[in-house]
Amino acid sequence: MEGPDGSGKTTQIDLLKKYLENRGFDIVIAREPGGTEIGEAIRKIILNRDYQEMSHMTELLLYASARAQLVNQVIRPALEEGKAVICDRFVESSAVYQGIGRGLGVETVYEVNGYALGDVAPKLTIFMDLDAETGLKRKKHQTKLDRMELEDLTFHKRVVEGYRQLAQLYPERIFPVDATLPIEEIHSMITSEVEKRFFQK
Ligand code: TYD
Repeated sequence: MEGPDGSGKTTQIDLLKKYLENRGFDIVIAREPGGTEIGEAIRKIILNRDYQEMSHMTELLLYASARAQLVNQVIRPALEEGKAVICDRFVESSAVYQGIGRGLGVETVYEVNGYALGDVAPKLTIFMDLDAETGLKRKKHQTKLDRMELEDLTFHKRVVEGYRQLAQLYPERIFPVDATLPIEEIHSMITSEVEKRFFQK
C-alpha cells in the first residue's frame, strides 16, 4: 500500500486485512520503515528531526537496510508458510521519495533495493492518490512532524507526481485509487481489484 503522507493507507490496510481474513487467508502486516526490531531502530534514525545533515544517499541506504531486514525476517518466511503479506509502504516509496523527491534517480533506487529484495516482489501495489497539500494538512492535525514530513511542499508535490508517473508507467502492477473518496468506496475499489487480479483467473 503506497501513497503520500496522510493518504489513509493504514485505514485501508486494516479493512483489506479483515476482508482477506474472511476469505480464509493468514495475513501478515508489515510497516516500513520498521516492522522488525532492527528496522524500528533504523526508523528512529531516519525520521529523527535532529538529523538535518543526513545525506540523500545515507537516507536511501538506511531505508534499504530496514527493508532487507524486513524481507529476510518477516516477508520471505511468511510467504514460505503460505501467508499473504500486506506492506504499509515498500520499494515504491524509495523510488518516489529518494529517487524522485531527493533526485537520486529511480534506476539507482531499484538497483540498490535489488540487494534488499532478492527474489521478493510485490504482486500488486495500491497507490492512494492524494494531493500533497491535502495529505500534509491531514498530518498537521496529528502529531509532531517527523524529518520527512518537515520537508517543504515542493518536495511532497514531487513525491505525489512521482507516484502518478510510476502508476502510469506500470499499470500492470500499480493500481491508483482516488484517496479523497469515502473510506468504504475506496475499500470496495481495492477489493474488486484484488478479486480481479488474484481470484478470477
Ligand atoms: P510513516 O510515519 O510511516 O509515514 P506514513 O504514516 O505517511 O506512511 O513515515 C515514513 C516516512 O518515510 C514517510 O514520510 C515516507 C518516507 N519513506 C521514504 O522516504 N522512503 C521509503 O523507502 C519509505 C518506506 C518511507
